[in-house]
Amino acid sequence: MESTRKQLIDLLKEQDSHISGQQLSEALDISRTAVWKHMNELKKDGYEIEAIQRKGYKIVSSPDKVSKNTLQWGLNTKWIGQHLYHYPQVESTQDIVHQLAKEGKPHGTVVIADEQVKGKGRMAREWHSPEGKGVWMSILLRPDLPPVQAPQLTLLTATVLANVMDKRSALVPSIKWPNDILVHHKKVAGILTEMQAEQDRIQYVVLGIGINVNQEDGEIPSMIAHKASSLKMESGEKWDIQEFVQSILSTFEKTYDSFIEEGFQEIKQEWERYGYKIGEKVTISTMRRDFKATLLGIEADGALLAKDEQGEMEKLYSAEIHWGEGGYHA
Ligand code: BTN
Repeated sequence: MESTRKQLIDLLKEQDSHISGQQLSEALDISRTAVWKHMNELKKDGYEIEAIQRKGYKIVSSPDKVSKNTLQWGLNTKWIGQHLYHYPQVESTQDIVHQLAKEGKPHGTVVIADEQVKGKGRMAREWHSPEGKGVWMSILLRPDLPPVQAPQLTLLTATVLANVMDKRSALVPSIKWPNDILVHHKKVAGILTEMQAEQDRIQYVVLGIGINVNQEDGEIPSMIAHKASSLKMESGEKWDIQEFVQSILSTFEKTYDSFIEEGFQEIKQEWERYGYKIGEKVTISTMRRDFKATLLGIEADGALLAKDEQGEMEKLYSAEIHWGEGGYHA
């Protein structure tokens, strides 16, 4: 039932014009009455469908609100999001995924909320997650990897987000080390990776993705408005959150599968292609010294590689970087 509905949506979305009930019934191998029933179900989930006699059906608009059904029907993935939970309001999607992980839910389980009232950022910061304005989502991963490779998953996720934003808009996203996504020097997305591990094996990873999507001017908290923004504010267009999430999940699945098969090299190149200020000079403060250096790229362990003015290389794991623009530090 569900996969027929997925195919039906795909067929309708592929067409710019109407598609007849007969064509749909042949393509899906179901009766015309069944086609008609599916159409009614789609309408109930918020799809606006035009039905014209002798011409057929056409999707006029997809639902504005995200739901488990509408997210899954348009999702062309093998493992990610096959178990998906959608909530109107939660404290934090991270906590729910930790709970689901403990209950044994599988690799690729996704939790997404319209609103978080206790959204968590990195370094115990708060993550503002207002209703219907962004992607507030956590993914459960059960990779067969040693814990030292966990940072690669965060870097991988940053490349996925940058790639999808790049493909879906004229915006030029960049990734600010370790894993903020910036547009026009302002942060539009962040990633929070939490891990449960034994000494040599990851038990599970909860990968939290927060993206400011449709906030308007004045809707970003004033404390961070100088350094944070939304995709709508930067592109001038409203984004379809549902299609955006589907595209993130399917790109994530492909990227993750090829990372597991082929290793980190391609992710590293992709990260560096989007890397903020890679090849440029910044000022860095570490425990030992303050110095000017050119950022060169990242290492397989997630470190940022920089070369100082004397030509000495530094691998940075935690450092204060004075990025110049946007006015904030790593
Ligand atoms: C950062 O500090 O940049 C990371 C922000 C991560 C926010 C996301 S929103 C979904 C998930 N649930 C949370 O509470 N946090 C992450």
